[in-house]
Amino acid sequence: MTGPALVSVRDLRVAYGDGPLVLDGVDLDLFPGEMVALLGSSGSGKSTLMRSLTGFAPINGGSVHVVGHDMTNLPRRRLRDVRASVGQVFQQFNLVGRLSVLTNVLTGSLHDAGPINLAGGFSSAHRRRAMELLDRVGIAHKATDQARSLSGGQQQRVAIARALMQNPRIVLADEPVASLDPRMSHAVLELLHDIARQDGIPVLVSLHVLPLALEHSDRIVGLRHGEVLVSAPTDRLDAAALDVLYAHDETPDGAHDDTHPRKADRVDDHA
Ligand SMILES: Nc1ncnc2c1ncn2[C@@H]1O[C@H](COP(=O)(O)OP(=O)(O)O)[C@@H](O)[C@H]1O
Ligand SMILES: [Mg+2]
Repeated sequence: MTGPALVSVRDLRVAYGDGPLVLDGVDLDLFPGEMVALLGSSGSGKSTLMRSLTGFAPINGGSVHVVGHDMTNLPRRRLRDVRASVGQVFQQFNLVGRLSVLTNVLTGSLHDAGPINLAGGFSSAHRRRAMELLDRVGIAHKATDQARSLSGGQQQRVAIARALMQNPRIVLADEPVASLDPRMSHAVLELLHDIARQDGIPVLVSLHVLPLALEHSDRIVGLRHGEVLVSAPTDRLDAAALDVLYAHDETPDGAHDDTHPRKADRVDDHA
């Protein structure tokens, strides 16, 4: 960890509408250069936590700071700045399939371009940068191909290049390998980890395959029912230590599971 935290979340509580708390007292820090895996079963609050970092989750209590901005009290104009500084990668890649690979990457620059001159298209500087990024993610030879003609793993690399085109301060990747086969999954996570290390950008990546998290992260944050039960450097954890995140997930229909671990059982060495 070098430098101050770029994301700092304290005692965050989130509820949708009149519903129950889906995040209940969550703490999270992201430091330059680290890849942090966010674990937890479906519905534990991973996507909501990521959304809170871009102002897309209703904050009921606590605080969220992202690249120096207080997200609980942010003018609209500043919210746009925050979103421009957060690169995002999604499970379904979210490319425009009929457009070329290069154009998809170039759209990443729209975040900071302000009003663009659609008639004039993208500047040659932007084009050069986009080609450099495609080269970095190993897809330069596909630059003029339609995005939809690429394999899933290649499309996700294009999506990563697009995120980098924003010059992001942080990168959020919500289940980026859930649609990829194991070999592609490793390659994409290795690429994200390289970006964290080489560019000093924190990468927060939610994953549902434990071995991938153990192999490709510096730190693991584990959610269960909206609470952080695990927060530790990856090299201090193993699959058994992560059991608390998934224990008793298979409850028989109608049975109420009140045995899930409480805060007292946390694996937490941030003290
Ligand atoms: N837009 C929404 N409106 C209402 N409830 C939501 C919304 N998004 C998520 N939830 C609920 O919040 C909880 C956490 O969901 P989510 O953050 O998507 O978890 P995860 O990404 O870990 O699967 C779930 O109970 C889910 O049903
Ligand atoms: Mg999710």
